[in-house]
Amino acid sequence: MSTWTRKDLTGIEPLSREELEIIFERAEFYHSELHEHKRYDALANRTVVNLFLENSTRTRTAFEVSARRLGADVISISGSASSLSKGETLRDTAMNIRALNADTIIIRHSAAGAAAYLAGVLDIPVINAGDGAHEHPTQALLDAFTMRLHLGRDLRGKKITILGDILFSRVARSNIHCLTKLGAEVTLAGPSTLAPHKFAEAFPGVRVVHDLRTALAEADAVMLLRIQHERQTTTHFPSLGEYTGRFGLNRERLSWLKPGAIVMHPGPINRGVEVESEIADGPRSVILEQVSNGIAVRSAVLELCNKAVQAAKA
Ligand code: CP
Repeated sequence: MSTWTRKDLTGIEPLSREELEIIFERAEFYHSELHEHKRYDALANRTVVNLFLENSTRTRTAFEVSARRLGADVISISGSASSLSKGETLRDTAMNIRALNADTIIIRHSAAGAAAYLAGVLDIPVINAGDGAHEHPTQALLDAFTMRLHLGRDLRGKKITILGDILFSRVARSNIHCLTKLGAEVTLAGPSTLAPHKFAEAFPGVRVVHDLRTALAEADAVMLLRIQHERQTTTHFPSLGEYTGRFGLNRERLSWLKPGAIVMHPGPINRGVEVESEIADGPRSVILEQVSNGIAVRSAVLELCNKAVQAAKA
């Protein structure tokens, strides 16, 4: 297997299947010791800055836990607490953070392309923690990592249904890139306004289905997405109740899945909307496992990008 040479992780789209496998291999190491609270020295004497300009619970905390376990000092900055609120540009904010000896910046931003822009400006690793509706690469990596644990390491031919607000979802886009590179068969499902046919044109091999029974019948995993109200400027369905009535995962619809199919969700969950609580908390749900696996995957990404920078300097 070749080595990882990228300074940044700005998206899944530019990655090869081999690069995905490198991340999974390293994540498997961290996963094997996930619950032992071990400390490592991959990022010793380094400073990692979490620059989160949109809200987050899972991603921000998982990056923080991962960076600390790897030996880094971690500083977390939110939008309201930064000088961005005083009119400073993103570039200036990032350059100032770099001048304060940051060795890695993890950024979440509402604008698509924000992470790639900073990656071009800075000489340190920039990790995309979600940029608008564009990409959320570490979410897709932890999702695929979790699928590999449950469905087998080789996802070729596995049938994955992503159900919900596809249109506004960076998680959906990163997962489509990731899963198709790994050879999985991806079905997108939801109301035609939120799962439009144009996705099948944009992503060859991906199927768009608006009939829920069809979308669930063959799936090895179903990934539920919440409605991304924060990115919707017009109404895409009559009411939340009607959305739930047609597309929410309830006990009856769960029975349409094959035995052994798993239920996933990137979080945050809107209980009673896209999924009933008894299913989110039930035996087929791997939702909290996804969250835990985020530490293994993000540890791998932090280590690989920092090592690539060190190797390039040597
Ligand atoms: N899945 C996800 O990105 O969750 P957070 O918004 O809590 O980070």
